[in-house]
Amino acid sequence: MKVLTGIQPSGNLHIGNYFGSIKNIIDKQNDNEVMAFIANYHAQTSCSDGKKLSELTRGCAIDFLALGLNPDKSMFWVQSHSPLVLELYWILSSFTSMGLLERAHSYKDKVAKGIKANHSLFSYPVLMAADILLYGSNLVPVGKDQIQHLEITRDIAVRFNNEYGDILTIPEYFVDENTAIIQGVDGSKMSKSYKNTIDIFIDDKGLKKQVKKIITDSTPLEEPKNHETCNVYNIAKNFLNEDECKELQERYKSGKEGYGHFKEYLRGVISNYFSSYKEKREFYIKNPELVDEILKQGAKKANDIASFQMEQIKEVVGI
Ligand code: ADP
Ligand code: TRP
Repeated sequence: MKVLTGIQPSGNLHIGNYFGSIKNIIDKQNDNEVMAFIANYHAQTSCSDGKKLSELTRGCAIDFLALGLNPDKSMFWVQSHSPLVLELYWILSSFTSMGLLERAHSYKDKVAKGIKANHSLFSYPVLMAADILLYGSNLVPVGKDQIQHLEITRDIAVRFNNEYGDILTIPEYFVDENTAIIQGVDGSKMSKSYKNTIDIFIDDKGLKKQVKKIITDSTPLEEPKNHETCNVYNIAKNFLNEDECKELQERYKSGKEGYGHFKEYLRGVISNYFSSYKEKREFYIKNPELVDEILKQGAKKANDIASFQMEQIKEVVGI
């Protein structure tokens, strides 16, 4: 199976990104052909500071490698280093109806939040379709918020194939129902834009501060507590196996501990979980030339696949 994902370098990675997207792709490396890229063209829709974008792109690549993306097994590159994607984006634009883009929730939500509408924000899903269709991917693991973009991709690919024959692979998407929406410290979806995140690579002091912000109810320390409605438990369960979840549930029922204890437990669990990744991250930070080489090799492979696919596409469209 050819499994592909892209991640926008638009800020610090949080545990919602990890469980909703990054972990899914990393776990698939053993028995699939994984392709992962840093979507820096897409990030231009929210970042106009060039220096910042280039730093975030490198930082995101380092984080991905630290979290287990294995460049010996998987293809890993920066989106703009394989620029044929922009040529396909233009070609696919002729197979994308205005209505399809006008109905896109992600676009409508951003505009509703006051983000200025411009062409790149509007045509964002067409570039995403080009990312997916250029490399012939069969499967795209996504968070729930990206499902519609995958439906748009499928729609565009079907229209293209109806015109020119079976050229493009129609991709499937995969949503892991257990981690489709990781909640933030306020109980709503964890997101950079809601400022309710717990970040993956944060120092101990920062982590303590973020965990402390988790909203809980006012059940007194000595009373039993409901784990199901507790934001601390709902974040913790993503890190725990079945037995550990049961153990924590018992602690909630016993009524001997307060939310402060559960928060301290959660802080320890998160810190432990990411500690080995932090060491690996330091290694890549200290070896920037290695990161450059990995991305260069990845871009070379991406360009090879892209050139082959574009040759076929350009032939049938007559360009
Ligand atoms: P953010 O909302 O913080 O800006 P992005 O839109 O950059 O996050 O999301 C990057 C990837 O992480 C996407 O695949 C998205 O589905 C996934 N993701 C983001 N937040 C969550 C969450 N709270 N739960 C599950 N997946 C998430
Ligand atoms: N739109 C995705 C997000 O915000 C990022 C992305 C760009 C992507 N191109 C992609 C994801 C192709 C999967 C496949 O998370």
